[in-house]
Amino acid sequence: MRAVVIGSGDIGTAVKQVLVEHGHEVVTVGRQSGDLQADIGDVESLRRLFAEIGTFDAVANAAGHVRSGPVAEATDEQWADSIASKGMGQINVVRAALPHIADNGSFTLVSGVLADEFTHGSSISATVNHMVQGFVLAAAGELPRGIRINCVSPTVLTESEHYYPYFPGFVPVPGAEVGMAYLRAMSTPMTGRIIKLHKMTS
Ligand SMILES: NC(=O)c1ccc[n+]([C@@H]2O[C@H](COP(=O)([O-])OP(=O)(O)OC[C@H]3O[C@@H](n4cnc5c(N)ncnc54)[C@H](OP(=O)(O)O)[C@@H]3O)[C@@H](O)[C@H]2O)c1
Repeated sequence: MRAVVIGSGDIGTAVKQVLVEHGHEVVTVGRQSGDLQADIGDVESLRRLFAEIGTFDAVANAAGHVRSGPVAEATDEQWADSIASKGMGQINVVRAALPHIADNGSFTLVSGVLADEFTHGSSISATVNHMVQGFVLAAAGELPRGIRINCVSPTVLTESEHYYPYFPGFVPVPGAEVGMAYLRAMSTPMTGRIIKLHKMTS
């Protein structure tokens, strides 16, 4: 499989490692980093990217940010920026890649535990994660040519110590497990699935 992995942070690095270990070809993408450059917040840069890559079988996204802020204090700019980046950015990855991805290809997007468990200031993250997950659930039934789409929803990664203060009492998940979840989404017939990598349930 030839896979495009967008983002080389803790998740993107883990995804690339697992894919390479399983014999897949990986093209990495970032705004400054990666083999090729594009900004998921700029749909025209995505259209240029996927036209340039040519043939590929899968897109795994591990990029896009959200801002933290309690409802009473979060600004218009924090809301708009978060929706444009992690929300619409991931949707635009799919829209821009769709004309180019191979038959029976796959998209794997990312949400996060803050779709299901809430912390102080997590309302923007919760909203954007549900935006992504809602898109995945609905788009799975609409994509042509046997193309699949799934979403990985991890809790905080063991490697992402800088996020620990925002996740008090959350049990971290190793990046390798997140990478394996992407591999499963990309390599099996599943579609329209939200793969949750967190242990907290009500
Ligand atoms: N880390 C965690 O514990 C965790 C847990 C759950 C969910 N998530 C979610 O997973 C995603 C990735 O998080 P992460 O911690 O692995 O990554 P990260 O540290 O935020 O790194 C992001 C990576 O993506 C690239 N990137 C950022 N914005 C981009 C854009 N607009 N267009 C293209 N590339 C972009 C960056 O490279 P350039 O600077 O070169 O663009 C960088 O390689 C985020 O949406 C995050 O909310 C993370």
